[in-house]
Amino acid sequence: MKALVLSGGAGTRLRPITHTSAKQLVPVANKPVLFYGLEAIADAGITEVGVIVGDTAEEIQEAVGDGSRFGVKVTYIPQEKPLGLAHAVIIAREFLGEDDFVMYLGDNFIVGGITGLVDAFRTERPDAQILLTKVPNPTSFGVAELDGEGRVVGLEEKPENPKSDLALVGVYLFTPAVHEAVRAIQPSGRGELEITHAIQWLIDQQRDVRSTTISGYWKDTGNVTDMLEVNRSVLESVEAVNEGTVDESSEIIGRVRIEAGAEISRSRIIGPAVIGAGTVISDAYVGPFTSVSEGCRIEDSEIEYSIVLRGSSITGVRRVEASLIGRDVEVTPAPRNPSAHRLVLGDHSKVQISS
Ligand code: G1P
Repeated sequence: MKALVLSGGAGTRLRPITHTSAKQLVPVANKPVLFYGLEAIADAGITEVGVIVGDTAEEIQEAVGDGSRFGVKVTYIPQEKPLGLAHAVIIAREFLGEDDFVMYLGDNFIVGGITGLVDAFRTERPDAQILLTKVPNPTSFGVAELDGEGRVVGLEEKPENPKSDLALVGVYLFTPAVHEAVRAIQPSGRGELEITHAIQWLIDQQRDVRSTTISGYWKDTGNVTDMLEVNRSVLESVEAVNEGTVDESSEIIGRVRIEAGAEISRSRIIGPAVIGAGTVISDAYVGPFTSVSEGCRIEDSEIEYSIVLRGSSITGVRRVEASLIGRDVEVTPAPRNPSAHRLVLGDHSKVQISS
């Protein structure tokens, strides 16, 4: 069995964060979302992984390398344009050969991995196996309609009037039967060859398409609340590690992962939380469910239930809460006189000011 991981695409949903970086590299608890997928694939005993890359190929290749750090062997497959998930299967034909494979969308996060699913597929080998999950916003997904016995009767891509709230999760298991399907379909309204349509084609051909409904799923639908929530759920299982330095007047309470070279002084950190490599925290409070990436500075400030991406600084500000702060951002107090907010915000930013 092989894996095909999709890491192309533009990533307009989590703007402004994905203006400047690949959506698959958005960090959850300081680790790119894509890495969780690669680890889940490796855990399921799959070692040959094809990674489809697009405009952000360089960034993805730099992060993933040859795959050895995950225990897999990566083959990069460039997709010239984002022509759809079924198109990705077409261009991966040579890599996939006659093997069964799991197709994994690199911006999807599945709590608990995929080992159970892959094992069941290996034994039962239906033509295709899809995953479904209940979502509040089905119009942003592929949507499945099930009959009374739970069989999939129809799939629609981003329907205006969804027939259910069961969204297609971005993990699909296929036998080589899918290769005929991806060649049989036409581009959708958005000009893409949709994997949803290829699976519908298999259903229409009376092939064996099965579904499993899961909970514990996240993708970057642009909703910061969801991102804070997935960060929270991953931090729930973080382990206390200290690879940095903590001075005597600091207090570390609960499970806090302090990465290499981080410096904590005169501060209080309440876990679960992660403090990235080389980050400096001084005279500050960092509360539960906070992920601070590498190379940040939090000084004379208070922050909790937030995500701070690399190279950002927060100085003299209290209290920051439920916030997603991008890369190389500076948050500082405005001069007291006149009493005013001073903002330099990128496109698609969102600010809530309490005063
Ligand atoms: C794709 C699929 C959609 C699925 C989603 C899951 O959407 O087309 O059916 O629900 O992934 O991530 P896209 O990310 O291309 O908008």
